[in-house]
Amino acid sequence: MSDFVNDFWNMYVIVIVLASILACAVLLIVQGKATFTPGKTMGHVWDETLEEYNNPMPKWWSWLFVITVVFSLGYLVLFPGLGKFPGMLKWSAVGQYEQEVQKMDATVKPLFDKYLAMDIPAVANDKLAMEMGKRLFLTYCMQCHGADGRGAKGFPNLTDGDWLYGGTPEKIKETIAGGRQGAMPSHEALGAETIKDLANYVRSLSAQSNVDVARVERGKEAFLNGDCIACHTPEATGNQDVGAPNLTDKIWLYGSSEATVVETITKGRQNKMPAWHEFLGDGKIHLLTAYVYSLSQGGSK
Ligand code: HEC
Ligand code: HEC
Repeated sequence: MSDFVNDFWNMYVIVIVLASILACAVLLIVQGKATFTPGKTMGHVWDETLEEYNNPMPKWWSWLFVITVVFSLGYLVLFPGLGKFPGMLKWSAVGQYEQEVQKMDATVKPLFDKYLAMDIPAVANDKLAMEMGKRLFLTYCMQCHGADGRGAKGFPNLTDGDWLYGGTPEKIKETIAGGRQGAMPSHEALGAETIKDLANYVRSLSAQSNVDVARVERGKEAFLNGDCIACHTPEATGNQDVGAPNLTDKIWLYGSSEATVVETITKGRQNKMPAWHEFLGDGKIHLLTAYVYSLSQGGSK
């Protein structure tokens, strides 16, 4: 593998490298054959004190050059360096990395296989498995769900036992492996007044303060007669098949203030949980599922 776009640059590099080494060798040979007159000056004087003598180079110095020449030739034969030539040892940074990964996989695979054969609740009770799960979570999930899994605005809390898509081992695994796309459509067309009514109604369902009773009445009408019920159900308890949240509890994905709820209804919300299966594989997904499951069971070990 190389980044050369055509062969010219390949040859260009090879010629420059070999020519430099050759020039170095020639210089050494020529200097080795030159005759010197140690102790005699060449007649050049600088600053009245600095005189040029005709002495040979110190031996150790010439030998350093010889070693450099031999070493670089040897290196270029064994390792990549001469244009596209990969070197006799076929070493490459990518190859070394892949080897290390393979070695690592071979060590941990039996462990992953052991856990894969156990069901999720059992894995969630295994101390070592949960340590591994936590490390995976801190590597791949923390940036969105927080180090403790409690989430943030728009990123669901995974520890509260309340689920957009379901908290059974199967559903959690499905979420992590395949990802999720939450889509609450925009309802701007309903107009600002109706949206405010709806927001008051929705907020009243979870007993938020400062709701306007008249608006709650009108909002309930609009909710039951609009498309809200298609996803959130007439009881507003949500539907895990489409990830529509329960609107009757005090758990909010985006926030409970009137302004936030109005914004949610007006503009809608698009939210993406990435899919991990291809990147992480079965073993890691299994451990992460068990870890998330344990968090929601109050066992954040
Ligand atoms: C780029 C941000 C991001 C990363 C990284 C991420 N998630 Fe998510 N996750 C989300 C979002 C956003 C949602 C909510 C999707 C929605 O609203 O429909 C979500 C939802 C979930 C859910 C569903 C929660 C529920 O209530 O049903 C689980 C479980 C989950 N994530 C686990 C994980 C795990 C485990 C990882 C690490 C492998 C991870 N997530 C990494 C953004 C992320
Ligand atoms: C097509 C299905 C769908 C329809 C129709 C729909 N919603 Fe939603 N709604 C969702 C989904 C999915 C989410 C979660 C979005 C996410 O995961 O980011 C959501 C989120 C919300 C939230 C935010 C809840 C929180 O915890 O922050 C509110 C409030 C809401 N919807 C109210 C309504 C109202 C009111 C209507 C009717 C005007 C409505 N929705 C119609 C699917 C729908």
